[in-house]
Amino acid sequence: MTLSAGGISLHNIDYAFAGNKVLNALSLTIEPGEVVALLGPSGCGKSTLLKLLAGLLQPQCGEIFFGDRLVASAGGMLPPEQRDLGMVFQDYALWPHMTVAQNVDFPLRMRKIPSSQRQQRVQTALSRVGLANMAKRKPSDLSGGQQQRVALARAIVAGPRTLLFDEPLSNLDSTLREELCHEIAVLLRQLGATAVYVTHDRHEAGLLADRIVQLSSGQVTAIQTATLPTGKSA
Ligand SMILES: Nc1ncnc2c1ncn2[C@@H]1O[C@H](COP(=O)(O)OP(=O)(O)OP(=O)(O)O)[C@@H](O)[C@H]1O
Ligand SMILES: [Mg+2]
Repeated sequence: MTLSAGGISLHNIDYAFAGNKVLNALSLTIEPGEVVALLGPSGCGKSTLLKLLAGLLQPQCGEIFFGDRLVASAGGMLPPEQRDLGMVFQDYALWPHMTVAQNVDFPLRMRKIPSSQRQQRVQTALSRVGLANMAKRKPSDLSGGQQQRVALARAIVAGPRTLLFDEPLSNLDSTLREELCHEIAVLLRQLGATAVYVTHDRHEAGLLADRIVQLSSGQVTAIQTATLPTGKSA
């Protein structure tokens, strides 16, 4: 493989749940720093593909490369914590017993970042998502939109090369969805991370992504270049 650092490449991926094939010889290459939106009908395998990228599932056939590093094949796979990635889920997945700051600090502790650096990094990540003064609250004391901002801060705090999003805005009302979508688009351009963003919403995909990839019958059926409102060079 000659893919540059930060790029992602999937080759001939098969995945089946108990014999029920979801992904069928799927291949896709994502360039370093590119934001790809993954669109497709319910049940077509979008979350399955994201979990394969995250290291939560192992392909039964095919290979996944992060840069020139083989991270998964039928023969073995790297666990999520060795893939240098951050994830944001639909349901926020925050730890209820931890404060906002402790939730965001978690990836730094996992990566054994010295405590002298952690507080500043947590505060910087919270500032980026507009929650600088909510560090001491518990997730239960936040709105849905604020909880998703915490999840976003947690995903970016360690500066991962790859960001994965699984319908992060679908639990929010339409005004908030639009607002956060714009903010994520700007954040992704600033960070320069490679991102895969699963959504049902074509409008959202168009706002965020460099490319929109359509998934159907377990394969990529269309790829479309999106018109970016924010501009890569901005
Ligand atoms: N743990 C599981 N066990 C068995 N089948 C599963 C499991 N997870 C998903 N599936 C099946 O795999 C298929 C793909 O599921 P997946 O969650 O990837 O779809 P999706 O495109 O993310 O759908 P949605 O848009 O509704 O989130 C579906 O038919 C689903 O029922
Ligand atoms: Mg899904």
